[in-house]
Amino acid sequence: MPRINDHYLKLQAGYLFPEIGRRVKAFAAANPQTSGGIIKLGIGDVTEPLAPVVVEAMHLAIDELSKRETFRGYCDEQGYDFLRHAIAEHDFRARGCDIADDEVFVSDGSKCDTGNILDILAPGRENVIALTDPVYPVYVDTNVMGGHTGPRKDSGEYEGLVYLPMTAENQFCPPLPARKVDVIYLCFPNNPTGAVLPREELAKWVDYARANDALILFDAAYCAFITDPALSRSIYELPGARDVAIEFRSFSKTAGFTGTRCAYTVVPKSVTGLNASGEKVQLHKLWNRRHTTKFNGVAYVVQRAAEAVYSSEGQKQVQATIDFYMENARIIRQSLTALGMKVFGGEHAPYVWLQTPAGLKSWAFFDKLLNECHVVGTPGSGFGASGEGYFRISAFNSRANVEEAMQRMRDRLKI
Ligand code: MLT
Repeated sequence: MPRINDHYLKLQAGYLFPEIGRRVKAFAAANPQTSGGIIKLGIGDVTEPLAPVVVEAMHLAIDELSKRETFRGYCDEQGYDFLRHAIAEHDFRARGCDIADDEVFVSDGSKCDTGNILDILAPGRENVIALTDPVYPVYVDTNVMGGHTGPRKDSGEYEGLVYLPMTAENQFCPPLPARKVDVIYLCFPNNPTGAVLPREELAKWVDYARANDALILFDAAYCAFITDPALSRSIYELPGARDVAIEFRSFSKTAGFTGTRCAYTVVPKSVTGLNASGEKVQLHKLWNRRHTTKFNGVAYVVQRAAEAVYSSEGQKQVQATIDFYMENARIIRQSLTALGMKVFGGEHAPYVWLQTPAGLKSWAFFDKLLNECHVVGTPGSGFGASGEGYFRISAFNSRANVEEAMQRMRDRLKI
């Protein structure tokens, strides 16, 4: 019989979002007559259709695949040149970031990439890993799976990880680690709190990484939701970042690709790590080796669809959808504030983060909202110990559903 990876047994039973899904399903089964149905503002999943230019590009690509002369099979695992070039040009060089086309690796998702990146770092507990708390659970769980942590403590934290609390008390600005760390996960605009870091705060992290030979894993999946041009969209806008940071980006929320699947990871050739003999090795080389070995590329149709996002019409169309979701976020913020709740985020991110009323625990508020209003959100404690007492509402839904959810909270929530 095979031996299993025991580290999996340290994990909490289920991943956060399937666990929410399970509870909602059980509630719906026990309450078949929920008036008006259950409104889901839990997982951040897009609801609006793909932009017309994206759909058109997909149709054209399918036509190409239907003819022998233009048919394509395997592509380069790292992505087609046309897409790598469009990404590097529009998302980086146009904003003054020095990123080459071949430093962009196209993939099927940032969730996978932020987990898979651990493949190229030392196994076991050689690296000290820091992450913010609350945090996107994938970063924690994949470190647990890889054996980079000790056991789970009663607090829900894992031994060996360095947690950097982000709460209302520190304006959701994580403190620099008190001990020297080797790897730091940062996600801004932040999931789940919706917080953003001013440029000078982000610069502190780049300086820290440079001074301590640390690696920053920067998740910028929500950068398209930034509404203030003074905020950095990419960590590479900060001087020196290309020596210490890997950046993850996704078309999921930017262009409604959660079901279509396309993302990319930027690994500059100047980012290095140490081998067993203490010599520097390019992480780009290792990631390229991993990607070409374990991944076979994103579908041609999808890469053409992603390329279309960068056309001038594409930019206008995806921006209109982003603006639509951000108007939802504004409505949520305004409605909850009017209900006397303390709300954060939702200004440069599609998530509104609220302090649970009457000191309720996060899961207690989840149950209350589901029972009284038939509205689903995400309990803050699901994102980490410092998320306890908070709750996340996603702005990804139709206007009618967002307005109805807010109306139900006004009418039915007994605080
Ligand atoms: C979320 O709701 O936090 C995200 O949709 C999860 C994800 O992007 O995987």
